[in-house]
Amino acid sequence: MANKFYVPGQQRADKVHDLFAAVAPRYDLINDLQSFGLHRVWKRRLVHMARVRPGDAALDLCCGTGDIAFALGARGANVVGLDFSAAMLEGAQKRSESNARVTFLRGDALQLPFPDNQFDIVTIGYGLRNLANFETALSEMLRVLKPGGRLLILDFGKPDNRLWRQCYFTYLRWIVPVFGRLFCGDSATHAYILESLKHYPAQNGIAALMAEMNCEEVKILNLLGGLMSINHGVKGTEA
Ligand SMILES: C[S@@+](CC[C@H](N)C(=O)[O-])C[C@H]1O[C@@H](n2cnc3c(N)ncnc32)[C@H](O)[C@@H]1O
Repeated sequence: MANKFYVPGQQRADKVHDLFAAVAPRYDLINDLQSFGLHRVWKRRLVHMARVRPGDAALDLCCGTGDIAFALGARGANVVGLDFSAAMLEGAQKRSESNARVTFLRGDALQLPFPDNQFDIVTIGYGLRNLANFETALSEMLRVLKPGGRLLILDFGKPDNRLWRQCYFTYLRWIVPVFGRLFCGDSATHAYILESLKHYPAQNGIAALMAEMNCEEVKILNLLGGLMSINHGVKGTEA
């Protein structure tokens, strides 16, 4: 069944924007409930893989309420968190008072307001799947990374094992939308996750795109048998 928040083409970004405006007040709570708290573990893995050095310049795209941005800041990076949703950024700003290393900016991940070769680290957690064009997004991320800079992408994955994938898609189809209905008054907000995942190339497709774009050290870390995944790459001198 079609999902009102997943509309390909020109309207994609507007619908995603509407979705996060609706979800923002309960976003963190639902994340904890639907992942049994595990999203925190997976975000820590991503930050670990970023190999942060004190003073690194980091960009966290689609930062939402700021979990990854704050974790990078806690490791000594100077972080910009960018998101196009004022409602999600409001949640991040509320948490940012004691984190002078982390600043937030409203902007579009597909048109980054930064010069080339600016960041040592670019991260994106549960963001790439929501963007209207994955190639444009990756090329923007690589553009703003310095040569040798690290790119880390955390998102829902597609497990290779068919039985496991079936169980997981069943959870996304029947259980996760209940959180949307209970906390946002609309099951479509969370039924969107499965719909968007179906249209997302997931870990293997994203790794292939990264390799095509001359990313180096392209690796996939599968979590829970590939339910979640982290794509890792390093910007080469030719990227
Ligand atoms: C699922 S949330 C992820 C938030 C956070 N990274 C986390 O892992 O908890 C996706 C975020 O992507 C943002 N987003 C979607 N499309 C965007 C775009 N084109 N530019 C910037 N942010 C975007 C949404 O506003 C939302 O905050």
